[in-house]
Amino acid sequence: MCGITACIGTDESVDSLLDGLRRLEYRGYDSAGIAVKNQAGISLTKRVGEVSELVGAVERDPIDGTFGIGHTRWATHGGVTDNNAHPHTDESGRIAVVHNGIITNYQSLRSELESNGHKFESETDTEVVPHLIEENLRDGATPEEAFRAAVGRLNGTYALASIIGDEEAIFATRSGSPLVLGVGEGEYFLASDVPAFIQHTDQVVYLHDGDFIIARPSGYEVTDSGGRPVDRPLKYIEWDPETATKGGYEHFMYKEINEQPGSLRRTIHGRLNALSGGVELEEFPPGTFSDVEQVHIVGMGTSHHAGMFAASLLSERGIPAYAFMSGEYAVIKPPVTENTLVIAVTQSGETADTLDAIRRARAAGARTLALTNVVGSSITRECDDELLIRAGPEIGVAATKTFSSQVTALMLLTERFVEDITGNKSGVARDVMDSLARLPGDVQEVLDTSNAREIAEEYQDSDSYFFIGRGLAHPVALEGALKFKEISYEHAEGFAASELKHGPLALVTPMTPVFAIFTGFEDEATLSNMKEVQARGAPVVAITSDPDGEIAEFADHVLTIPETHPDVAGITANIQLQLVAYHAAKLLDRPIDKPRNLAKCVTVE
Ligand code: F6R
Repeated sequence: MCGITACIGTDESVDSLLDGLRRLEYRGYDSAGIAVKNQAGISLTKRVGEVSELVGAVERDPIDGTFGIGHTRWATHGGVTDNNAHPHTDESGRIAVVHNGIITNYQSLRSELESNGHKFESETDTEVVPHLIEENLRDGATPEEAFRAAVGRLNGTYALASIIGDEEAIFATRSGSPLVLGVGEGEYFLASDVPAFIQHTDQVVYLHDGDFIIARPSGYEVTDSGGRPVDRPLKYIEWDPETATKGGYEHFMYKEINEQPGSLRRTIHGRLNALSGGVELEEFPPGTFSDVEQVHIVGMGTSHHAGMFAASLLSERGIPAYAFMSGEYAVIKPPVTENTLVIAVTQSGETADTLDAIRRARAAGARTLALTNVVGSSITRECDDELLIRAGPEIGVAATKTFSSQVTALMLLTERFVEDITGNKSGVARDVMDSLARLPGDVQEVLDTSNAREIAEEYQDSDSYFFIGRGLAHPVALEGALKFKEISYEHAEGFAASELKHGPLALVTPMTPVFAIFTGFEDEATLSNMKEVQARGAPVVAITSDPDGEIAEFADHVLTIPETHPDVAGITANIQLQLVAYHAAKLLDRPIDKPRNLAKCVTVE
């Protein structure tokens, strides 16, 4: 949670910080602030509300400086107030700090600092840091020594950036929270994520836990906690800066839904040989997984739904596979052996629950694989192997294009597993691979022809929205409901179609439209469930590839998907449900890209 940014050597530090915060707002948006260094000292502005509130405050009462730090907050310690907003300072106002993460020993540090006479202004865990630095300076430490010594006292997770005294430098470090360095021509940026500075530079250094960074106008150095230089390669980001902007769309979410033909092409590119129907994963040559006896897939929210989808698919192909919410994995502690492969599915690569699950799996001796969208993210460093989904930056808080890319990448991995684990090289899934190759075009067809907006309008005054599906369509139903509730704030639930009459049917009324997903797998049984809810007065919207068949005949409305293999149909069905959720939220005038109480990256358990 929270986004931090910093810049030095830039011409317009205030504009650069504010622009960076706008682009990081998906990480938290209940308050924001910046601190810039100038001749007189540090000038600081912070405000409750979205970054636009901060921008307004700076326009009314301008501040200026040659370098600075910024923060957009998702509150953990202390309410949403101006005082609790970052940056935080010491009493002298000569030190300013922004922080992402949680300092778990802040209470004891705060008591110690208070007994030494320090006065605190906020209820945050972060505020101990500037006071610790100040105390070290008072004891004669240099700014660098003071920063290192302060960080040495902290437990928990943090990415920190600070301005200290008159030193023309940004001091930063990370441990358990993301931080990347952008390297421009004589200008340097630090941020929780690349979109914050992609308009300035495409040269990036991915920092590791325990790295310390000092950036000055003359250059930067990365060292370990003992001050020894560490070598972190400069990498080139292959993104068009446009991908991190709305590019003419009203919302990032709608743009990202519409980007899916392209993002899916990137996921598949070079990995699926359209001629042979074979899977060629550069990262995992044939035989890589021949020792694997069972697969556990961990993830949260949308990523968990992708994991459920893959676990069902693997089971269908004869490979023992189970999906767990990462947050539960650590509690349940399912037995693993060295022949268990644990796959972490995580868009951001920073979700605390998922990192925790992987750490426990590794400690128990399992082999681990990260499936993520973010190059250099924490999960890639925690796992033995990684497979990037290549969906490109996703800014809208609701995951859309990353779900379709996760599922697609997991389908490719499944084929590698089937070959390696079962030894079946006979191309059993050739028809699935052919359908995957056609998927970007099929998704485009859905985007071009969808009547989701009319459906959203038709049912906009309902009490609740239910989503049902069988087999591979079950996680799609759960994902449809999650998307709907998180951005529309309307009550929505997803169920296995078979579960309906074991309880949820009691809730079904004419005011509870049911979205029934038909993917060509046991459709007759789902058709019976559809009739059961209709008998209780509920209208049914069927998602089907057969707009003229029996399903469509009985349904009240139809959302059509292209005809494809049943294993792949869930992906296009999901696109229709993303569109329904989007239009429903838009009709209700919800803040679609920044739903209340949520943030894109959940770095706390
Ligand atoms: C829903 C959503 C969340 C995330 C979940 C996991 O639209 O975005 O449910 O899927 O917080 O995040 P990652 O995939 O980054 O681990």
